Amino acid sequence: MRDDSSDIETVAIAPIAPGHVESFHRALDLVARERKYLSFLEAPSLDQVRSFQLERIERGDPAYGAIVRGEIVGWCDITRHDRPIHAHRGALGMGILPAYRGRGLGRKLIDAALTQARKAGFVRIELFVHSDNVRAIALYDKVGFVREGVQRDAVCIDGEYRDAIMMAIVERENASG
Ligand SMILES: CC(C)(COP(=O)(O)OP(=O)(O)OC[C@H]1O[C@@H](n2cnc3c(N)ncnc32)[C@H](O)[C@@H]1OP(=O)(O)O)[C@@H](O)C(=O)NCCC(=O)NCCS
Repeated sequence: MRDDSSDIETVAIAPIAPGHVESFHRALDLVARERKYLSFLEAPSLDQVRSFQLERIERGDPAYGAIVRGEIVGWCDITRHDRPIHAHRGALGMGILPAYRGRGLGRKLIDAALTQARKAGFVRIELFVHSDNVRAIALYDKVGFVREGVQRDAVCIDGEYRDAIMMAIVERENASG
């Protein structure tokens, strides 16, 4: 992929569409293989990612991409829980290719996904973040996520244990919209 990261103005924030599945898969795989941030160490297969994304689009769950020349360089999505008693909840996930980090794209992506989640009536938006991921935690704090607890030694990567912090935004008023 050509590196257009020097020109952040060329990055568009837009809903992830079926045509983005392949570049989304590449971006997910690249961030997963950093072995630091995500709950994957590599992306699931392209077919699995495609069917998951197409189902998500069908359901109308929020999913935004940072897009350069038609390719995803970052994403933020919120997946609704499927059991009826948990259907007011959504799990947030996000990632940005290394060259595009630290320049405000994370904030734009999460703002877009949260705005859509509020419109779609999500009452609770939740996430897990590794306790050493200071940049992600700073972003989540800024947009209103509240720490709910710590899962000690929740993650083990290459023999190193890390805590996971549970964070959530709860807005009952979204249900009446
Ligand atoms: C976490 C991530 C999505 C954040 O996106 P980003 O574009 O890098 O972040 P932004 O530039 O929008 O910065 C968000 C906020 O955090 C702050 N911030 C950025 N880097 C920081 C750092 N190292 N320490 C503390 N705060 C930091 C910024 O000041 C910014 O606040 P502002 O909007 O008030 O200026 C991105 O860095 C990433 O993809 N990381 C690897 C994958 C990952 O961690 N995914 C999340 C798993 S839970």
